[in-house]
Amino acid sequence: MKALICSEYGPLENLSVQDVPSPQAGPGQVVVDVKAAALNFPDALMVQGLYQVKPPLPFSPGAEVAGLVKEIGDGVQGLKAGDRVIGFPGTGGFAEECVVAAGKIMPLPENTDFAAGAALVLTYGTSLHALQDCGRLQPGETLLVLGAAGGVGTAAVEIGKAMGARVIAAASSDDKLALCRRLGADETINYATEDLRRRTLALTGEKGVDVVYDPVGGGYSESALRATAWRGRMLIVGFAAGEIPKVPLNLALLKERQLLGVYWGDSVRHDPAGHVRNMKQLMAWFAEKKINPVVSERCPLAQAQEAMRRLLGRQVKGKLVVLPEE
Ligand SMILES: NC(=O)c1ccc[n+]([C@@H]2O[C@H](COP(=O)([O-])OP(=O)(O)OC[C@H]3O[C@@H](n4cnc5c(N)ncnc54)[C@H](OP(=O)(O)O)[C@@H]3O)[C@@H](O)[C@H]2O)c1
Repeated sequence: MKALICSEYGPLENLSVQDVPSPQAGPGQVVVDVKAAALNFPDALMVQGLYQVKPPLPFSPGAEVAGLVKEIGDGVQGLKAGDRVIGFPGTGGFAEECVVAAGKIMPLPENTDFAAGAALVLTYGTSLHALQDCGRLQPGETLLVLGAAGGVGTAAVEIGKAMGARVIAAASSDDKLALCRRLGADETINYATEDLRRRTLALTGEKGVDVVYDPVGGGYSESALRATAWRGRMLIVGFAAGEIPKVPLNLALLKERQLLGVYWGDSVRHDPAGHVRNMKQLMAWFAEKKINPVVSERCPLAQAQEAMRRLLGRQVKGKLVVLPEE
């Protein structure tokens, strides 16, 4: 089978599509015939050796997939060959076949195409965990989402609306902000051309927002923190801008603001029951059409390297999905 292989950490040019042996399902595992695998920012960091998780080499990136069950290992119950599923392998998804622990398989909702299914776990799981479990976002509160047209950002906009918040979407172009409006954002801020802090305060009658969802970092974080209300919560989700900001902690003291770290992958390990609950909630919202992954681009395996370059270059809106069999 064909797989995108990272045999050495470093520049994206190190990646290549190779013919490798098909994987086998061990006890408690399933082999999935991958029809679609969603691209996430951590994939592009991981292959460069810049992510907190460093898989043993060689490996295939690709954390979340949708496809058909091909083979089941000993002890796996409730699944059979041919079932349409979503899987969260963590790595290995950018390949024609991949191994997934049976506990990380869910049925693909009916009438859902593989690309949308592949994009339902990581970004939505992260944003729901962040907003609900960490940020305790309440109906009627105001939520500011940075990088709002990106993968986790679009999910945060939709989930914020589903949770009854007023959502302010911030991104770097009017085109990206138009997408956020289509997803339900109530207000938008173009932080490439507008002052993020001043505009956020103006949109909230100078009170500030209750919750900030920040997957971007860099200089945006302090501006957003300064535009947070009394007892506002700042969710630290990621540093797509590349710089891990250092903010003055008096900003937390002054308004009893809270800085809250979000690490979805580890939260799933620490609280598997909470993860199952969140996935059920997401599937219910998906069925009610309250959330719907924005699959803006699809590409074959041979273009996955270029797709990562575009993601790192801020050129992708919503989710880019790799179709390994094309
Ligand atoms: N904590 C967790 O559990 C968790 C889980 C998943 C992902 N993450 C992190 O969340 C971040 C976003 O992931 P994603 O998959 O949503 O990525 P994405 O789709 O590429 O979105 C990131 C957004 O960041 C903005 N950005 C600002 N400066 C950037 C720069 N210099 N380079 C690239 N993007 C820049 C871009 O929006 P504008 O152009 O509009 O600014 C882009 O849309 C990553 O850091 C990722 O590691 C964390």
